[in-house]
Amino acid sequence: MSKLFSAFSLKSVTLRNRIAVPPMCQYSAHDGLINDWHLAHYAGLARGGAGLVIVEATAVSPEGRITPGCTGLWNEEQAAGMAKVAAVIKAGGAVPGIQIGHAGRKASANRPWEGDDHIAAGDPRGWETLSPSAVAFGANLPQVPREMTLADIQRVREDFVAAARRAVEAGFEWLELHFAHGYLAQSFFSPYANQRTDAYGASAENRGRFLLETLEAVRAVWPDHLPLTARFGVIEFDGKDEQTLVESIALVKAMRSAGLDMLSVSMNFTTPQANIPWGPAFLAPIAERVRREAGLPVATAWGVDLPELCEQTLQAGQLDLVMVGRAHLADPHWPYQAAKTLGVEQPAWVLPAPYAHWLQRYQPAGPQ
Ligand SMILES: Cc1cc2nc3c(=O)[nH]c(=O)nc-3n(C[C@H](O)[C@H](O)[C@H](O)COP(=O)(O)O)c2cc1C
Repeated sequence: MSKLFSAFSLKSVTLRNRIAVPPMCQYSAHDGLINDWHLAHYAGLARGGAGLVIVEATAVSPEGRITPGCTGLWNEEQAAGMAKVAAVIKAGGAVPGIQIGHAGRKASANRPWEGDDHIAAGDPRGWETLSPSAVAFGANLPQVPREMTLADIQRVREDFVAAARRAVEAGFEWLELHFAHGYLAQSFFSPYANQRTDAYGASAENRGRFLLETLEAVRAVWPDHLPLTARFGVIEFDGKDEQTLVESIALVKAMRSAGLDMLSVSMNFTTPQANIPWGPAFLAPIAERVRREAGLPVATAWGVDLPELCEQTLQAGQLDLVMVGRAHLADPHWPYQAAKTLGVEQPAWVLPAPYAHWLQRYQPAGPQ
């Protein structure tokens, strides 16, 4: 029995399989608004067969965008566009999810294919960035952010709440808070970025406060019956990994008690000095530890994209869902191909009637 192709239920939501498309920015929006590219992209991914499609990091405020091309959910026009995205994902048979976030000191950047660095000072396309402390990331992101006041902290938390409300009204059934990858929330938890001495800095408990309070505030408006998840970096790969893991898992436990339903386990990316041991499914053992010690379902991405490897991590109880990213950009029908590779009989979701009728007896002509 394939576990990859078994259903997965969380709260009232059931995924047709354990394949999720993780959020992947398209950097193709204007003023935070989606366009036809987003509809084509997300419709294709959902039609391809994944159980869950999580829409890209969508900013809760204009200054929370990574680049000027990032999507947003800070106004009703954006929400109306996102409702179409949720609808096409549902039409393809996947559960529509969305990641909401704030880029913090990594905001105001050029698109990856235009440099992936901060927009130059004085360029009208750029903006002032916010972070727990006035400390730049460094390397290609040298802009010094403004240290957030307590009023800023409260306002950003309210922006998360407003974006979550718009997400549910737009038809999303799965919410992922972006607490990872060196953006604002991850920066609060990181001693590299957070040098505050108030209630939001210094001790691990204080550094976790922004994340916990944001989660609690969002949980109060996000329906109880729908999954509320987060993506959070639990490891920096900077040589202090055991301490970071212990502190991170303690925070995940607190978030679970506050209503977190699942964690997408990822990396911190709060310093350019990290030494990441890239390799197939290299985060799976770390995700398994979070699953065991924090006691909640987990997923992870990063090189978990060979069908046999996906099956193995699920069977071993390391993961509850696999996040297959770039392989889905290469082939939105990755689940269809994976089912063939694993010898799983093609269920109706892979070949719905309008396709199955023609494809069951069809063989490509091939070379003569
Ligand atoms: C084009 C692109 C955009 C991405 N955007 C996001 C994002 O919006 N939010 C996020 O948490 N991760 C983002 N990531 C990371 C992916 O979700 C995923 O973790 C990464 O691609 C590794 O998984 P893979 O090896 O299966 O591709 C992005 C990755 C790519 C390639």
